[in-house]
Amino acid sequence: MRINKKSISRLLLVAATLSAASAALALDITLPPETAAYRPSNLPGYQLAQRNCMTCHSAQYVATQPPSSRAYWEATVKKMKKPFGAQFPDEDIPALVDYLSKTYGTERTPAAQAKPAS
Ligand code: HEC
Repeated sequence: MRINKKSISRLLLVAATLSAASAALALDITLPPETAAYRPSNLPGYQLAQRNCMTCHSAQYVATQPPSSRAYWEATVKKMKKPFGAQFPDEDIPALVDYLSKTYGTERTPAAQAKPAS
């Protein structure tokens, strides 16, 4: 092949595209979904947990708790608010506690888990 100005600029374009693609790959870090994100559920507290419980830490702290009572989850949610300083209204607490108890706690039932999206 004859190397002329046109083929060099074409090569440079290919090189630029490749390095952009590998940069994109390098940034594509996915955390293990089972610990980083809250477990999907049809309970309203799922949305609230995603909104209120991801600002300081991932769902990992929740996922790594042993199955605990509703009283534990209520105390924990309240503790995140005061003294830890989470910004959610008191009205959100019952739904959050319900979701956490049924999804991670001793009240865990298959019915509380969302059906996989189809
Ligand atoms: C304002 C920041 C903040 C928000 C928002 C927050 N947390 Fe936390 N969370 C913390 C801190 C700080 C710790 C303690 C970390 C440590 O001990 O190393 C913690 C720890 C935890 C733990 C581990 C057990 C424990 O008692 O330390 C659980 C479970 C937990 N959070 C659940 C939640 C849930 C559920 C929500 C949403 C209702 C939430 N967090 C929102 C700051 C927050």
